Amino acid sequence: MTTQLPLTPDYDAWPVEAELERVSFTPRLVTVRWSDGRESRYHSIWLRENAADETTVNPATRERILDLSSLPGWPEIEGAEIDAAGALWVTFAPEDRRLRFHPGWLRAHDYDNAGDPEAPLVPVTLWHGGPGECPDSLDASGLLDTEPAGEAEEAILAPALESVLGKGLVRLRGLPTEPGSLEAIARRIGPVRPTNFGLLFDVKAKPDPDSNAYTSIALPPHTDLPTREYHPGLQMLHCLENSVEGGQAVMLDGFAVAEALRQRDPDAFATLTRVRWCYANTARTTDYVWYSPMIRLDERGELLEVRIADFLRGPLQAPFEEVEPAYEALMTLQRMLCEPDFAIRFTYQPGDLVIFDNRRLLHARDAFEGTSGHRWLQGCYMERDEIRSRYRMVQRARRRRRLTTTV
Ligand SMILES: [Fe+2]
Repeated sequence: MTTQLPLTPDYDAWPVEAELERVSFTPRLVTVRWSDGRESRYHSIWLRENAADETTVNPATRERILDLSSLPGWPEIEGAEIDAAGALWVTFAPEDRRLRFHPGWLRAHDYDNAGDPEAPLVPVTLWHGGPGECPDSLDASGLLDTEPAGEAEEAILAPALESVLGKGLVRLRGLPTEPGSLEAIARRIGPVRPTNFGLLFDVKAKPDPDSNAYTSIALPPHTDLPTREYHPGLQMLHCLENSVEGGQAVMLDGFAVAEALRQRDPDAFATLTRVRWCYANTARTTDYVWYSPMIRLDERGELLEVRIADFLRGPLQAPFEEVEPAYEALMTLQRMLCEPDFAIRFTYQPGDLVIFDNRRLLHARDAFEGTSGHRWLQGCYMERDEIRSRYRMVQRARRRRRLTTTV
């Protein structure tokens, strides 16, 4: 008698939160009843495709190898039963193949009762700033001494990832101030995205600058690299030195500003989601140009990204009748970006690392007095995918621990 639960088609851990109690079937449908009374239906074609055996999934990679169209016919169910271990056996015709399904995995993928499978990993919380507000701040002083992907690293990273996913921003404190250490810190989350400014870029006043960022002048609220078809999802800024007068950091939740615009001036909001602006960074040796609305929504009308950087906007090339409404909407937005209630302001301390969603947050800085001391930040980019993947790995590790403590 089998008492072990079967493999799942992935590398994840799926604790059994309710047991299979009853099963019935028709040729194209399996219906199960769980110990908490829930009923779930699964299509035969869906079950066949999501089996975990070696004709469906390559055991070495857990990637699918089955081509559904190569089956001798539409999978139909000839038998279904629950075994002593609590797994579901299903017999498929015309293949005459008997396959076994893990109840925890089945329950976790119950599309018949699913809420929103694409819901954010962490609920998105829009925020306003104002005097005295500061970013979520965490002591990360031991981060580089922890074992990669171990529990101690997770204890530092998990709340940081939650803040970035939910609020678009976190400040880690107490990190080393050695130049270049940002790369090792960033790799604890995921691979860095290189750009024409390098893998890491130095934000400090330089002679012969190729960006306003590399001067001591004030920078208006902006997202970085809106000039790219896919502008970086994350930015990290790591403070190595800061002894200048001025140069305070300013952060705004671009989604909160966009939602406020949607409420206050729906026409301006609609215009900014429609008109495609030109974003251009034409330097001496590179020439990046992209056209995009300033506010982009996903298929469901939720905010996907904002692209705002006045110093990287090229000449507007919109339909003639759109030009004045576009500039009116832009100026309405620009006035909102100056409202102090949207902004949080803080001063970087050496060892601070601010991680923020570069397609959601706007960052700015006050001018600083270049001769009053040194201000040196190192920065890098990453994609939102890396934060999501790292956070799913945290969730997987938590599920695995729950599994081993309940066995
Ligand atoms: Fe920037």
